[in-house]
Amino acid sequence: MQCYIDVYSLPSSVKPSQLHGAVAVVIDVLRATTVFTYAVHSGIREIVPVREVAEAMRFKENYPPDQVLLGGERQGLPIQGFDLGNSPQHYTPETVAGKTLILTTTNGTVAMYAAKTARSICIASFLNAAAVVEHLQSAENAENVAIICAGTNGVETEEDLLLAGCLTARLCQDGLHKGRNYQLNETATRAAELWREPVSAMELEKLLRESTGGKNLLCVGLEDDIAFAAHFDTIDIVPLLDPTLLPTQHPLTK
Ligand code: MLT
Repeated sequence: MQCYIDVYSLPSSVKPSQLHGAVAVVIDVLRATTVFTYAVHSGIREIVPVREVAEAMRFKENYPPDQVLLGGERQGLPIQGFDLGNSPQHYTPETVAGKTLILTTTNGTVAMYAAKTARSICIASFLNAAAVVEHLQSAENAENVAIICAGTNGVETEEDLLLAGCLTARLCQDGLHKGRNYQLNETATRAAELWREPVSAMELEKLLRESTGGKNLLCVGLEDDIAFAAHFDTIDIVPLLDPTLLPTQHPLTK
């Protein structure tokens, strides 16, 4: 079976028409998609990604105050008036279970919207990398995979490409045994070359600390978030966004 993996290093590198019929995978390792994965694991009811702070505030009015949380960041820092920043480890079951999260981040939620012409959208982080690979191996998802990296302010980032490479390399390797021939675009080839298995969480943390997103977090004193994002293959959940419900309604979370 002929299959395709296209990696886009930035939301602006993908044209809406390139995603028709594809399964999109959105990546913002540091930190939006890590937050998304951990919040779903912690039992959140739904996550509504929005692009603007004012839009998040407006959306909140649709919910009883005790059932909704505002989360996200600007310039890496918590947003004034929001309940949570963008540190994944703060999205614990005690804080988020049963609630709706309205999430806005500088680049991650933008990447989610860039995927909206895809057939389906899943959210990937290192936490759920193995689960995402399994999801992408199913017969209905295998043929046409488009991995969209968030980058930072229009510049591609090593941490997102590293996860794109991890997913690509694992799919190609398993594909050999399943009779699947994966054709990669240039960015997918480049990303796959960055990934070396096996890697421990400590080794991965080191790579993340050296990445653009990692350096940005170190600058604002958020190094714990890097260590948290490096716990790869620990969560067996693949959050899905329903592209037909973006941008105005509530995307589902699983
Ligand atoms: C983003 O969307 O740009 C990131 O998630 C940035 C961050 O978490 O600091």
